[in-house]
Amino acid sequence: MSLIGKHILSSDLFDREELERLFELADTLTPVARGRQITRVLEGAVMASLFFEASTRTRLSCESAFLRLGGGVTSTTGSGIMSISKGESLADTSRVVSGYCDLVVMRHPEVDAVHEFAAATNVPVINGGNGAGEHPTQALLDMFALHREFARTDRTMDGRRIALVGDLRHGRTVHSLMKLISRYEDMTIVCVAPESLGMPEELVELAESRGHRVERSDRPETGLKDADLVYTTRLQTERFADRPVPYSDAFRIDKALVSRVCREDAVVMHPLPRDGRPGSNDLATDLNDDPRLAIFRQTDAGIPMRMALFASVLGVADAIPGSLRPATWYRPDYTGPDDAPFYKNVAF
Ligand code: NCD
Repeated sequence: MSLIGKHILSSDLFDREELERLFELADTLTPVARGRQITRVLEGAVMASLFFEASTRTRLSCESAFLRLGGGVTSTTGSGIMSISKGESLADTSRVVSGYCDLVVMRHPEVDAVHEFAAATNVPVINGGNGAGEHPTQALLDMFALHREFARTDRTMDGRRIALVGDLRHGRTVHSLMKLISRYEDMTIVCVAPESLGMPEELVELAESRGHRVERSDRPETGLKDADLVYTTRLQTERFADRPVPYSDAFRIDKALVSRVCREDAVVMHPLPRDGRPGSNDLATDLNDDPRLAIFRQTDAGIPMRMALFASVLGVADAIPGSLRPATWYRPDYTGPDDAPFYKNVAF
């Protein structure tokens, strides 16, 4: 399947073959993402990023990915400063912005907005998160990071036990991730959430229809048992501000819990941001210097994977290998001080 010119609104679009092709391209692009090589395959191209909702990682990493491919970026955040606040429709905004750029990345708090936006343009639109719907580029980078973590610890992607934890009802990253995990074989997917925040039934049915076992648990202590991957998420309080939710400290994922119940070589991921406020019961910081915690390798994987996607959608993927040349500016060996124990032992 060719991705050239396609809107990327859902992770449905990617089958296993396409995922593996993107992993390979993202591997080739990793030295560019790390600032060790240069490519200019998108020289002259312009990306518009329109973020109508809070973002750190998605906006900055999409922009960085496009810039590292040699393209340029124009961006706006929030609807207050756009003509939408003067009553302009999304369809008109879409047609106008599309005349200024070659690709759009958009995030919006409403599920339908990105579909409406994409219907009004022939320029490829990438969904950067639509309400409690989907977040396909996050799921792509999650799968790429996971593929690397499992390869490093001699595990295949197939046959794994995956625990998805937290607000599975409103968390768009886990919705897109379910669709990609179920492209593999023989998975056990444990959905660990309070009953009112469970995984939507249609996604459970999709995974089951592809031959996987889906279990549900409202207790991390048992739900995380023997997990190969713990993918934990933030309570999406902005999606249900008026309703209190039972979210006890049993959902706080910390070193003691992971060491007690998961496999010894478990991988711990989170799409971030993790909520560090007292009582939030999110992923704890006591795993920060533990090699099982992959969250920053996961965020780092976002740049090469988004580069691979943009290059594929804009039809320049084949030109990448021949375009690479060395970069000469200073770069540290590893990015964060806590990364040292991991990068000391692994060529990554
Ligand atoms: C997530 C999102 O916006 O859906 N963040 C991200 O893009 N990495 C997760 C979240 O907000 O909890």
